[in-house]
Amino acid sequence: MRGFLLGIIVTLVVVFGGGYLWVSGGHVDSRALPNGPSQFERRTANHAMDEWVDAHAPKQDNPFKPTMDNIMDGSMVYDKNCALCHGSLKQPISQMRTKFYPPVPQLMNFTPDDPDANLFYVTKYGIKLSGMPGWDGTLTDDDIYKVYRAFYRDQPFVRLQPPGTWPSTQQVRGSNYCDLGFKVDQERGRVIVISAIDNITRGAAGQAVHNFNLMMGFPETQGLDLVPLAP
Ligand code: HEC
Repeated sequence: MRGFLLGIIVTLVVVFGGGYLWVSGGHVDSRALPNGPSQFERRTANHAMDEWVDAHAPKQDNPFKPTMDNIMDGSMVYDKNCALCHGSLKQPISQMRTKFYPPVPQLMNFTPDDPDANLFYVTKYGIKLSGMPGWDGTLTDDDIYKVYRAFYRDQPFVRLQPPGTWPSTQQVRGSNYCDLGFKVDQERGRVIVISAIDNITRGAAGQAVHNFNLMMGFPETQGLDLVPLAP
């Protein structure tokens, strides 16, 4: 029996010790470029992260209402701190997208469907062994929550332009999107908001489909998630 146990211990030491020596001995590619993570790495890491975040993120709704002020604050925080890696409406696919290991999710095309509190938690503390920084100490908790308000995540067809840029009809043509841009007029204490829609798709025809979906209990976006014709 003692010999058997000893055998197990020696095997474990050889396997783990050997593995450690192999990894630390320079056999693992440490470059972020040009390879992306394998399916296995991706799945294991994402699963481990989801479980941790689910267990530790605060259990609360986003404390900020989708008021114009909160949305503007959030979109400014995003533009200044996150757009470089995660993309902006002006440049929906950031050049940094594939420069990290794992690559950076492009949040203009895809916002994770996790609750805001989970996204808040990920943003506050960052993601280990990735290029995602923890923003604790740089941004306040309020700033981070407002970023997620600015995404209009409950409004799939509304897209907010970064501050100082205006929406254009070209960017919504042939789609059901409503793009919004705003500017703060400090002198007169006003906000100027401009929106752009394609009046044919987003107009009566899109409305009819939208209403039909709502009346029949279909997903709101069914048949309407069309990509704009340009650019
Ligand atoms: C220096 C580049 C960089 C900056 C700046 C950055 N991020 Fe990230 N972010 C990343 C990378 C890389 C990942 C992917 C990490 C992963 O998949 O493990 C990521 C992942 C995320 C995720 C997780 C997405 C998912 O699929 O669950 C969220 C949410 C996020 N970032 C939000 C933000 C916010 C909000 C800001 C600004 C306050 C920000 N990030 C700034 C690089 C960045």
